[in-house]
Amino acid sequence: ISKSDSQLIVMHEFAADMYHHILLNTEEGQAALDYLENRGFTRELIEKYRIGWSLPEWNYMATALQRKGFSEEELTASGLAIQREQGNGYFDRFRGRIMYPIMNESGKTIAFSGRVLENTKQEAKYMNSPESPIFQKSQVLYNVNHARGAIRKNRKIVLFEGFMDVIAASKAGVENGLATMGTSLTAQHIRAMKRFAQEAVICFDGDDAGWEAAKRAAIALNEENFKVEVAVLPGKMDPDDYVRENGSEAFKDQIIGKPHAFIAFAMMHARRHKNFQYENDLLQYIQEVLQLLAGRSSSIERDLYIKQLSNETGLSEEAILQHYRKLENKSIERSRPPKEQPVNTQPAKRSP
Ligand code: CTP
Ligand code: MN
Ligand code: MN
Ligand code: MN
Ligand code: MN
Repeated sequence: ISKSDSQLIVMHEFAADMYHHILLNTEEGQAALDYLENRGFTRELIEKYRIGWSLPEWNYMATALQRKGFSEEELTASGLAIQREQGNGYFDRFRGRIMYPIMNESGKTIAFSGRVLENTKQEAKYMNSPESPIFQKSQVLYNVNHARGAIRKNRKIVLFEGFMDVIAASKAGVENGLATMGTSLTAQHIRAMKRFAQEAVICFDGDDAGWEAAKRAAIALNEENFKVEVAVLPGKMDPDDYVRENGSEAFKDQIIGKPHAFIAFAMMHARRHKNFQYENDLLQYIQEVLQLLAGRSSSIERDLYIKQLSNETGLSEEAILQHYRKLENKSIERSRPPKEQPVNTQPAKRSP
């Protein structure tokens, strides 16, 4: 870690302490503290996640950092302050937001996400720190510092869509939760996850966006040889909503404790918004599921899900199996290498 990187971390640690202090110990932090209390945050959770409050002033943090001796270059490099376009000086990136520190694996703050108190159309609900030498969104997973032990113990990661869900899960006693910073799951995230476990339970929001993101994440993890399961929430709830409405035990037993196997989830996903009274929907459904199965080797899975397909659609297992064999042959042909490799007789081109 370079000297400038460690300076950036010092700045973020300083800011995290200050935001946290303002939330807990000042008059100005009271409204935010009330908001968090209403959302079910305990004092313990606020401390564990070092949640804070940024004052709605133009340059409170910039001034504090400069007083600590940080230079203007460091101020902008950290992303905590933004240089004014006209005139001199800097203003704070985060103003009047609940501050969630994003910590690296050793628990040092490397970025923030700030949430508005009230959702409006004018302002983005969450604002994140910009990318910096110490913060790359496509790599960082929220909560690794807290969850590592629990992940190793359970041999399993629970992947959430939002960091609020990670916190709610922890409150409910599910301590092996991680989340991306609002981006979709990248190859780098998956590589990071692999260092801790080979199994993942995806538990995303119950809205359409959540279902789509869960499908993409499930496919990506499956391709990287994770054992993938998906825990599904009723209606459009997210895990945080569910814990607040139904309590910790229900969340652990009914949701996290009853995940669906990858294929079973993919079938639920394919069934969504389909009406089997329409031939097209029915045929498309069968096609989607069989294609998924053709890429997998287990004959037990094949049997199990073909039976289920037959039950759901009223078609005979034989007819479905026959169609399956056709798809399977096609996919074998596709993956067979061409018989004769063309030999490259051209000399390599020289660069001019
Ligand atoms: N997100 C973001 N910017 C937004 C909205 C969302 O970066 N304007 C990211 C955040 O990382 C958030 C995740 O996407 O954690 C999931 O979004 P959403 O489900 O809308 O947020 P919740 O976690 O449900 O937050 P809350 O309960 O506070 O509304
Ligand atoms: Mn969502
Ligand atoms: Mn959500
Ligand atoms: Mn929400
Ligand atoms: Mn939520």
